[in-house]
Amino acid sequence: MADILTIHGGRALRGQCHVPGDKSISHRAVMFSAIADGRSRIRGFLDGGDCRATIHVMRGLGVRVEERSSTDVVVYGVGLHGLQEPADVLDCGNSGTTIRLLTGLLAGQSFNSILNGTEQIRRRPMGRIVDPLRLMGAQILGRQGGRFAPLALGASKLKAIEYTLPVASAQVKSCLILAGMYTNGLTIIHEPGPARDHTERMLQAMGVPIQTLGRTVHSERPEEPLKPLDITVPGDISSAAFLLVAGTITPDSQLTLLDVGINPTRTGIVDALSEMGAKIRYRDEGEAAGEPIANLVVETAELRGTTFGGERIVTMIDELPILAVAATQARGRTVVRDAQELRVKETDRIATTVSELRKMGASIEATDDGFVVNGPTPLYGATVSSHDDHRLAMALTIAGLIAKGGTTINKAYVTADSFPGFEATLRALGAVVQENTESRSEGEA
Ligand code: S3P
Repeated sequence: MADILTIHGGRALRGQCHVPGDKSISHRAVMFSAIADGRSRIRGFLDGGDCRATIHVMRGLGVRVEERSSTDVVVYGVGLHGLQEPADVLDCGNSGTTIRLLTGLLAGQSFNSILNGTEQIRRRPMGRIVDPLRLMGAQILGRQGGRFAPLALGASKLKAIEYTLPVASAQVKSCLILAGMYTNGLTIIHEPGPARDHTERMLQAMGVPIQTLGRTVHSERPEEPLKPLDITVPGDISSAAFLLVAGTITPDSQLTLLDVGINPTRTGIVDALSEMGAKIRYRDEGEAAGEPIANLVVETAELRGTTFGGERIVTMIDELPILAVAATQARGRTVVRDAQELRVKETDRIATTVSELRKMGASIEATDDGFVVNGPTPLYGATVSSHDDHRLAMALTIAGLIAKGGTTINKAYVTADSFPGFEATLRALGAVVQENTESRSEGEA
C-alpha cells in the first residue's frame, strides 16, 4: 500500500473493469449470516479495512468465518441467539457501519460487550443510536453520557418502540431494525429521507418479516430461523463514482464499469452527474444478491453547474467529495446544500474537500451544510493530504488526472479502506499513477 501517490494527468482513460464489492452490502452479509442458521457463502466480498473489521468482531462473538480467498468468505451462522460474550473489547477499526449496526445487534443480547474503534471512530456521533436504543431499554454507557465510543453494552431485554429518525441514516435505521428483532413487539421506524435499504432487502431475503411502507419500516422478532445467504456482492457504486467522474472529465475517455449495484437509494450520483450533462448509460441490467445491477458506460462530456439539496442528498452522501471535483470542471455554479452530515463522516468532508481542492486551484467555498463551486477552473498539481479519509484520497486522485503538473497525495494508503486496487485499476485504464513511500510537505507543487 502506498504512503503517497503521484499522479500525472493528461491521459485519456479507456477500457472496462470491475470495481470492488459494495461496502455496505459486504458488512451486512457477514453480520446477518452470522445470526442465520447454517453456512453462508459470500463472493465478491469487499477486501477492505472496514469490512475486515466486521469479520474480526463477528469472530470475537464466537462466529467461525473462513476466508477461502480475500473476496470469498464462508460464515458459519450460529442462529439468532447463538452469539457468545466476547472475551475482549470488540475493535470496530475505522468503520462507522460496523460499530453502529453491531450496537443494535448486541444491545438486546443476554451478555455484556464493549465496542471501540480508532481515534476517528471515537470522534463520530453515537448519540444517534444510543438515544433510541435506551428508549428500547438498552443499558449503554459511553463517553460523554453515551455520545461517543467506546460503548459498553449491558445484557438487556429490549422493548419495541416507534421512533422518528432525526437524520436520514441507514446506519441508525439498520441499528434499530436489528435491535427490533430482539424484542417481543413491533418496532416502527420513520425515516426522514430515502437512506440506503440494503438491510431491509437482505433480511427480507433471509426470511425476516421486515416491512417497508413508504418511509416507515417495521421490524419484529423472526418466527423462523434466518436462512443462510449464497450471494455475489454487486460492485460498489460509491467506488464506481470515482471512475464515472474520471471518465467524464478526462478528454477522449470511455469506460465500462461491470456489474455495479444500481439500487435506487444509491444512484443519486448518477442522476446528479447526468443532470450536469454527463453521459452515463446502464447496459445489461440484472440482479445480484437481491439488488439491481448493471454495466455502466461513461464517456467524456461537458458539464454545467447545478444545485443539489433536499432529501436526495442522502442517496449520494458518500459521493459529494467526487461531485465537488466534477463541479470544478462544470460551467457555472454548483451548489450542494442540506449535506451537513458530511461534517461527521470519516473527516469533516466539507472542510477537508474544500481545503484540499483549493490547494489545486479550485474555486470552492464551504457553507454550513455543503459547498459552492464556481467553474470551470483549471486545476494545478499540488501536494495534498487524504486526512486519512479514503473518499477524499480518491477524489483528489481523480482531480490529479486533469491537473497541470504532478499531484502528490499524502496518506494515500487509505484508498484500500473501500477500493483495494484503486491505483492499479486507474493504471490499467491508462492513467499515470505512481505509488511510493516518501512523503512531502503539503502545499508543495
Ligand atoms: C452506510 C450508511 C451511510 C454511509 C456509509 C455507509 C451504511 O452512513 O455514509 O458510508 O452502510 O449503512 P449514515 O448512515 O451515517 O448516513
